[in-house]
Amino acid sequence: MLVNATEMLKKAKAGHYAVGQFNINNLEWTKAILQTAQELNSPVILGVSEGAGKYMTGYKTVVGMVNGMMEELNITVPVALHLDHGSYDGCLKCVEAGFSSIMFDGSHYPIDENVAKTKELVKIVAEHNMSLEAEVGSIGGEEDGVVGMGECADPEECKRVADLGINFLAAGIGNIHGKYPANWQGLSFETLDAIQQLTGDMPLVLHGGTGIPADMIKKAISLGVSKINVNTECQLAFAEATRKYIEEGKDQQGKGYDPRKLLAPGAEAIKATVKEKMELFGSVNKA
Ligand code: 13P
Repeated sequence: MLVNATEMLKKAKAGHYAVGQFNINNLEWTKAILQTAQELNSPVILGVSEGAGKYMTGYKTVVGMVNGMMEELNITVPVALHLDHGSYDGCLKCVEAGFSSIMFDGSHYPIDENVAKTKELVKIVAEHNMSLEAEVGSIGGEEDGVVGMGECADPEECKRVADLGINFLAAGIGNIHGKYPANWQGLSFETLDAIQQLTGDMPLVLHGGTGIPADMIKKAISLGVSKINVNTECQLAFAEATRKYIEEGKDQQGKGYDPRKLLAPGAEAIKATVKEKMELFGSVNKA
């Protein structure tokens, strides 16, 4: 059964480790992540962006697939199904569809509007035993070929949003989605430290987990990061393994064109990436 992410992240914050949010795109992704979490006895958060939700034909399909898979695969570790960077309407749809957790990304609104909308969602998730992630300070990344640098959130604004009754907070600390550019300045630990000092026990979320060096990940965890989002790295691993399979002509040998064979190396590559991240984040055997 799906659980919300509140308890797993409280435990992570207290235990000085982080739980990975791995974004899912289809059945292979979901299966690979769930199997790895079970194998490593680790809690896990399955992230679904609005675009991926649409791709998988809608949130109800996602809920059906994940619930079914958890039962058929005998998954017993804590699993949360979480909307990633949701709009207000997307959040309401996921509440209705049976997600166990949502992120409302109001970071592009003026702070008062972000606060007002987040506050409404706090009430709604409480009625459904779900968890809510809010965001302050937008997280950059590639849009139309232009890579925007990550913003640094205002710690006072973080405190304001953290006090609304949310369960975990994403704050921009110079992180961005996708690959980091060569001239990236690194994470702003000064900002992270100031945010943690003001928000106390609130588990903090680090987006853009792809490509952040291991020592920075460890330092971020020591400063209160309890959830780390990874998406692009699994996509790159999947694409590389699939390319290799095809370049080696394996799809043309025997029944190598069978999707169950053709997609297998990619799925194995996702598993290896998730394993590496869970080990780095310290969530192994924390189920
Ligand atoms: P990456 O794609 O950079 O790993 O970021 C994932 C993320 O933060 C999803 O919200």
